Amino acid sequence: MTDYLMNTWYMGGWGHEITDQPISRRLLGVNTMFYRKTDGSVVALRDRCPHRFAPLSKGKIINDQVQCPYDGLVFDSTGQCVANPITSDTRIPEAVRVQRFPVLEQANIVWFWPGDPARCDSALIPQFPYLADVENYKHVYGLTPVKAHFEIETDNLMDLSHVDMLHPAFAGAFNKSSKYTAGRNGNTVFSHWHTTNTRNTAFLEYGPFPTHGAPVDQWLEMYWQPPGAMFLEVIVTKTGEPRSAGYSTKNVHILTPETEHSTNYFWSGALNSEDQVPLEVFREGFNNAFEFEDKPMIEAVAAEMGEETNLLAMKPLLLRSDGGSVLARRVLAELIARERSEDAGSAVAAE
Ligand code: FES
Ligand SMILES: [Fe+2]
Repeated sequence: MTDYLMNTWYMGGWGHEITDQPISRRLLGVNTMFYRKTDGSVVALRDRCPHRFAPLSKGKIINDQVQCPYDGLVFDSTGQCVANPITSDTRIPEAVRVQRFPVLEQANIVWFWPGDPARCDSALIPQFPYLADVENYKHVYGLTPVKAHFEIETDNLMDLSHVDMLHPAFAGAFNKSSKYTAGRNGNTVFSHWHTTNTRNTAFLEYGPFPTHGAPVDQWLEMYWQPPGAMFLEVIVTKTGEPRSAGYSTKNVHILTPETEHSTNYFWSGALNSEDQVPLEVFREGFNNAFEFEDKPMIEAVAAEMGEETNLLAMKPLLLRSDGGSVLARRVLAELIARERSEDAGSAVAAE
């Protein structure tokens, strides 16, 4: 069974998905509901009424409170039951409550904290400042559900050597000059490719950076933060030009487990504000790659693995280009082990 890192931030959704009408999303195996209060803040509650386990997300939001659609108990935005409309007994025990998750919204990302609320720390939220920069960038957003353990999706993103095989629109970026480096800074893992004198990708040639057949140099730089937040910057120049003169595209890839065997894969790409490419065409290019090229391959890998979720436990062949994904798995395993030993320590202290 998957042992999740609990005292950390996971992405629950894009900010624009959350309105005053509740949505339900299965996250780390738990149905979780999100809605937006009249003051604009986001609420995250377990999507399960404590009475008969009805999904609260199918209920009504009235004055920022949610009424269970089954027998009508009303819960406030902290999860506390505040009314029972079908009895004259107005006493509501304080223990009648729904689990509430700490939640924070930054740069159109809604983060929630599934672990101990007392340990929740906003300073730990991964930062993607370019997502908030709507002056210099035009953003596209997506969510691709994938039937695979989230670390299998991490493997895919931390090893972009699959791009030439799997993504025709992005192919051509690698050649015999391609150099790979991976490493770790604290809990951040990087996975970088640098290629010189290669052909421009169709995505850039017919998109925001046409070179009209001139060869290009490319830097492909992925950064991972636990448990599954990745930032990719791709910089392309005409061959020989300095990196600082290059065209840069930035995107984020954030993975939140849905269950042990399925993942919410959130992604976003950005065009520079002066780019003339229609945003919808740009979005389709991304969606096509993730939904119709990566996803079937990742799901086929997961199906082959069956019940096993840890690829390394199955002793796969490891290539040099797996350096980043192996490091990411290692960091996450370390953090989970540390969290479990802290849990054990506090359990002993409480005895
Ligand atoms: S199931 Fe919600 S009030 Fe009964
Ligand atoms: Fe891919």
